[in-house]
Amino acid sequence: MRIGVLASGGGTNLQSIIDACSNGGISGEVALVISNNSTAGALERAKKAGIATLHLSTVTHPEPAVLDRAVLEALTESGVELIALAGYMKKLGPMTLRAYRNKVLNIHPALLPGFGGQGMYGMEVHRAVIASGTKMTGPTVHLVTDAYDEGPILSQEEVPVRPEDTPESLQRRVLEVEHRLYPATISAFDRGIIAVYEGALDTVIRPLCITEDLDRAVTVIRTAFTTPAKQFHITDENCPSHPSFADRTSVLEITEKGGVIFGAYRNSVMTGCVAIEPSRERRDTWHLEKLAVPPDNRLTGIGSLLLDHACRAIRAYGGKSISAALIDADGALKSWYKRRRFTETGTRNFDHLPFTVCFMSKDTRLSGGKNERH
Ligand code: GRF
Repeated sequence: MRIGVLASGGGTNLQSIIDACSNGGISGEVALVISNNSTAGALERAKKAGIATLHLSTVTHPEPAVLDRAVLEALTESGVELIALAGYMKKLGPMTLRAYRNKVLNIHPALLPGFGGQGMYGMEVHRAVIASGTKMTGPTVHLVTDAYDEGPILSQEEVPVRPEDTPESLQRRVLEVEHRLYPATISAFDRGIIAVYEGALDTVIRPLCITEDLDRAVTVIRTAFTTPAKQFHITDENCPSHPSFADRTSVLEITEKGGVIFGAYRNSVMTGCVAIEPSRERRDTWHLEKLAVPPDNRLTGIGSLLLDHACRAIRAYGGKSISAALIDADGALKSWYKRRRFTETGTRNFDHLPFTVCFMSKDTRLSGGKNERH
């Protein structure tokens, strides 16, 4: 993947992207660095790494539309596929934004949607965070749209605010996390682990990041699994491990076992989630866990989208097969999976479960089956 970076300042985030490209963290290269500031440290860093640089600004192109075109032409001529804004203090022009729709990422040094928008940059952000008394801050990587700092969130990481923090000390700690988060997010976006699905659903599916994501996922899982719990008379006495009784701990167990939990977001609202977990018995196999779509979002295609995303992510992690465990008596759900090219592999009874479990699996290299639109 060829990356174009736009930066105005010191360029430490640019440096982390350059480093990730050379150490394999990102499979790609920085093809071009553009700055609006001819003395930006970012340009120096790029030159040192042998990367092409350009100074494009209102000094070189006073007319905004002409500047926009010059930026766009430079990017396309360099074969840039993804743009990373890294401390770029100017707004990207509408032509460039349109040409690179959903291909422009930015990193912001606070947990959006808080502490973003006009005027919220540099030390101002950290000053505002401290003044607010919040206990948690941290960087956000998001897609850039024409509304400042409002594009869909792709990743975040929490950094605790300490009582003795100054804006400077906080900036230092957040920046350290930025240097890890930004390259990791670019790579995950490139590999389809974080993905934007345009069209009717207009959804971003991404791994859960912060405590708020986890809490939302717990609610989504509990709500979604209430339906089968009622239908099959599952209670917290006869089956306390059922997802309708999920809590933070039971959801986090998935990541402790090397799994990943994904949330689907539409306009920042979580509309569903799904988890995958590597099998301990079978190499190349991952278990599908907690595919959850609350009643309000059913019949929209979000369940199929989550399932397809799970298969794609498993492939990105090197897995070949996905297996699901369902209540054997749930004929409707079994048909749902069969329509999506899963086949039954057997049934089993467990002492701790009040129902027979049916196992189904699918080769993740097979396409999605019914409702495949993506
Ligand atoms: C970072 O804090 C980033 O979050 C913000 O601008 C700053 C850029 O720093 N968008 P650097 O130039 O990458 O060192």
